[in-house]
Amino acid sequence: MVITDLDLAIRAIATGHLCAIPTETVYGLAADARNTDAVARIFVAKNRPQDHPLIVHVGNYESALDWFANLPDWGQQLAEACWPGPLTLVGQRSQLATDQVTGGQNTVAVRVPNHAVTLQLLDLLKTKGILGLVAPSANRFGHVSPTTANHVETDLGNYLKLHGDLILDGGACEIGIESTIVLALDDTPVILRPGAISADVIEAITGLAVQQNPSGGPRVSGALASHYAPRAKVYVVSNLTDQNFAQGSGFIALSSIQTPVGLLRLAEPDTSEAFASQLYQAFRHGDVLGVSNVYLVLPGESGIGLAIADRVHKAAHPDKERLS
Ligand code: TXA
Ligand code: MG
Repeated sequence: MVITDLDLAIRAIATGHLCAIPTETVYGLAADARNTDAVARIFVAKNRPQDHPLIVHVGNYESALDWFANLPDWGQQLAEACWPGPLTLVGQRSQLATDQVTGGQNTVAVRVPNHAVTLQLLDLLKTKGILGLVAPSANRFGHVSPTTANHVETDLGNYLKLHGDLILDGGACEIGIESTIVLALDDTPVILRPGAISADVIEAITGLAVQQNPSGGPRVSGALASHYAPRAKVYVVSNLTDQNFAQGSGFIALSSIQTPVGLLRLAEPDTSEAFASQLYQAFRHGDVLGVSNVYLVLPGESGIGLAIADRVHKAAHPDKERLS
């Protein structure tokens, strides 16, 4: 059931139910991070592999520190500069973090989401002794992340309804793609998943060189090929002339780029930021319209552009041939 009443959300979570929550990035499917049965049901609801670690969501920086055994100085600087905001820090875990939450790793991922309703929820839950909510994106595993309460209902509504779980509606997500995940273990910030907070921003705040796209690092579920995928085949195109587009296909590009004849425009954002916030909605819209193919022109790779390219390349399935 979709609700807007915080008291209902609190009661649901405190009694071991799941509740989808709004954040500035995407909607998360939340449970009390210390309730083993509730956390177990998140994996069932999403059809997510058990060993994929979850992000703990807390209401402020001080609460985040309880989940870490320690954090390098630069990690603290970054947290204070970016939280609440689209940053997840992965650090040495404290005894609060269970194997169930971390996927058995000795690190834990934590973030303070920048959404007024959810921040209020997290603060009120803390007064009831609930120290954090685990919340993976509230989509079926491998599907496009949800950016509205309605998207959550489409993906998980049947399961949630059957179990008395709730969806807290906090409007459309402003940023629209998942948080930047930064590994904070030693002297080098390592970006495990790009997001709205770019390497440049992290370098400016910490004064340290940032490592990107590590190989062999800790498990990041979005790192699997064919993640974030709509039903339609996604093709990244860079040159709109001389292309044989399948008529009736979807098209996503900045508003400065004209729609090729015969294609259905799914989004025409003015900026890279707007591109990010409309991307998943546009993929879902294409699926609702039943298009078989979506052609997409990436915005530049600066700022959030890199995170957009990351998600789009994962949506473009390996067996979906890439046009140049
Ligand atoms: O913006 C977001 O981060 C959203 C909203 C709901 O907060 N959440 C989200 O959760 O994207 P999820 O579960 O879809 O992705 C969490 C990512 C996964 O890629 C997971 O592997 C990674 O965080 N992660 C969690 N704990 C980790 C750890 N200890 N080490 C490395 N990666 C970790
Ligand atoms: Mg996800």
